[in-house]
Amino acid sequence: IKKIGVLTSGGDAPGMNAAIRAVTRSAIAHNLEVIGIHHGFKGLIENEFTPLTSSGVSGILQNGGTILKTARSREFLTEEGRAKAYQNLVNAGINAVVVIGGDGSFTGALVFSKEFDIPFVGIPATIDNDIFGTDYTIGYDTALNTVVQAVDKIKDTAASHGRVFFIEVMGREAGLLALNGGIAVGAEVILIPESNTEHQAFDRFISKGYKRKKTSGIVVIAEGEEMGGALKLAKKAEQENPDLDIRVSILGHMQRGGNPTAQDRVAATKMGVAAVDAILDDQKSIMVGLRYGKIVHVPFNKAVKLNHSIDQDLLEIQRLITI
Ligand code: F6P
Repeated sequence: IKKIGVLTSGGDAPGMNAAIRAVTRSAIAHNLEVIGIHHGFKGLIENEFTPLTSSGVSGILQNGGTILKTARSREFLTEEGRAKAYQNLVNAGINAVVVIGGDGSFTGALVFSKEFDIPFVGIPATIDNDIFGTDYTIGYDTALNTVVQAVDKIKDTAASHGRVFFIEVMGREAGLLALNGGIAVGAEVILIPESNTEHQAFDRFISKGYKRKKTSGIVVIAEGEEMGGALKLAKKAEQENPDLDIRVSILGHMQRGGNPTAQDRVAATKMGVAAVDAILDDQKSIMVGLRYGKIVHVPFNKAVKLNHSIDQDLLEIQRLITI
């Protein structure tokens, strides 16, 4: 292996730049050349390659987003698209690729590696923290802190006006960001797709809390069709409880931005170095992850498996401490 490519794919996540920096610097330390591929798999197909140097990745560690840009590529889902990508990699003399992204990106990499002999190694980066086999994905801690900061502010208004806020948090089909975010802000109700019993929590809040002494409240809702959306749920609650003063706040893409927290920078740096080590160790079609603080290798086909389970202890904690 003489030359590796690195790309970011799918939704951006704070800490992706720290991972790009770690991959680049550790590859250079091992005398490898590094090529930055812009716009994820789309750039792989469209030949958007630029060499990365040690100085070229300085000053990016603390920035959100990704200097390599990102995209969700439809063309990579086609055989033709992947064949073009392979030819570009061969022409550029790239022997292995590090993919920084989420499960969609690893699915693409898995299909590619079944067809062609260029190894792909993944680094999990998504604010959703929904990838199987790793305790942590880059961007999650920053997003969690963003949720907390935003809801703390909303709580000032909720308390001043005696209002109930329905706050929608990102996470695709995963409720971890909503659950931990909700616990961290002391939400009265947390609704996540992994637990259908939590819907009763709102009724509990109404009957025990709001009607007796609570004058305001925070309902944190994980986004996604399964949940029905904060707007819809708020409307229903309003119809059933006309005396409540309800407002809705959808936090949206602010959760994906901002400077990565120390935890995200350190995790990204560890995983970036581990990804290069894995390539030098002839690994392919694996994601590097963190379990109990230690680097692990997880085959792509396991990492992309949908895993909706959630820490039941966390749910129990929430039930115990609310109202
Ligand atoms: O996977 C990260 C994420 O932010 C999800 O939480 C969210 O559902 C999705 O991406 C939004 O995607 P987009 O930015 O393409 O609208």
